[in-house]
Amino acid sequence: MSRIISVCVPKGGVGKTTTAVNLASSLAVAERKTLLIDVDPFGGSAIALGFTSDKIKASLAEVFSFTHSVGAAIHRTDLKYLDFVPSTADTSNSQDKFHKFSENRLILKNALQGILEFYEFIIIDCPPSLRGMSTAALVASDSILIPIKPGHFSLDAVDRLIEFYNWIREVANPDLRIEGILMTMYEKDSRVSKISERELKMKHGQYLLSTSIPNTNLLNEASFYSKPLCLYRVNSEGCMAYLNLAEEIITKNNKRAKETV
Ligand SMILES: Nc1ncnc2c1ncn2[C@@H]1O[C@H](COP(=O)(O)OP(=O)(O)OP(=O)(O)O)[C@@H](O)[C@H]1O
Ligand SMILES: [Mg+2]
Repeated sequence: MSRIISVCVPKGGVGKTTTAVNLASSLAVAERKTLLIDVDPFGGSAIALGFTSDKIKASLAEVFSFTHSVGAAIHRTDLKYLDFVPSTADTSNSQDKFHKFSENRLILKNALQGILEFYEFIIIDCPPSLRGMSTAALVASDSILIPIKPGHFSLDAVDRLIEFYNWIREVANPDLRIEGILMTMYEKDSRVSKISERELKMKHGQYLLSTSIPNTNLLNEASFYSKPLCLYRVNSEGCMAYLNLAEEIITKNNKRAKETV
């Protein structure tokens, strides 16, 4: 059975897409069959993996319009164990279209039913707002991974997300869990990083993951070349950090599976 993890937090530019792409790639490097789904109509994951509109044969937009099956929207990637589903091939009107589809909160959950058995992990890259597709993603998910860039506003966003998470559990998905809070763009010698880490430990210590992702330009650079970092600079600190994150999540997942037997 697959574990569906939404990378979600109501704050832009904190590393959601970078984390979704590099975590999914690292799980694939660890030979876990993984599907990355982009539910952000902006299509950041597609850009980061080099899926320009001419390379997209079908997307979630067509799946939701019932013109294609979800299988038709699955694309192979350069990594053997990683597949990808883009949000939309067409950028014009996509926001409106997606907004309309997401009024149906079960739309993604239903679309995924037929493919769950083929993947060990399904990673969903969410937009920066909690309305719309993020809600549909959280209804379809087993857990939320919360990437956080050091800084005051990011900490506020975690509080808002946890409030929203409690609401989703109450009204739509009682089994939803928090996979963890991941510090991204972390700078060892920065005061802001240290203060943010201390605050997170104090307020949400039970969720804070042991892995943090360093602030490194290579992650930005790799996405310019449409590659996850493990295919661009495998021996870099950033690549190792995302491999460690994959390992931490695999270990947690194995432990959880044993507990439920
Ligand atoms: N660890 C990191 N170190 C340095 N730069 C990073 C790191 N993670 C992400 N970035 C850069 O920060 C910018 C924002 O990252 P990203 O697109 O992943 O954020 P996002 O949360 O998905 O944003 P949005 O809400 O707009 O979708 C990008 O330019 C990305 O390359
Ligand atoms: Mg993004």
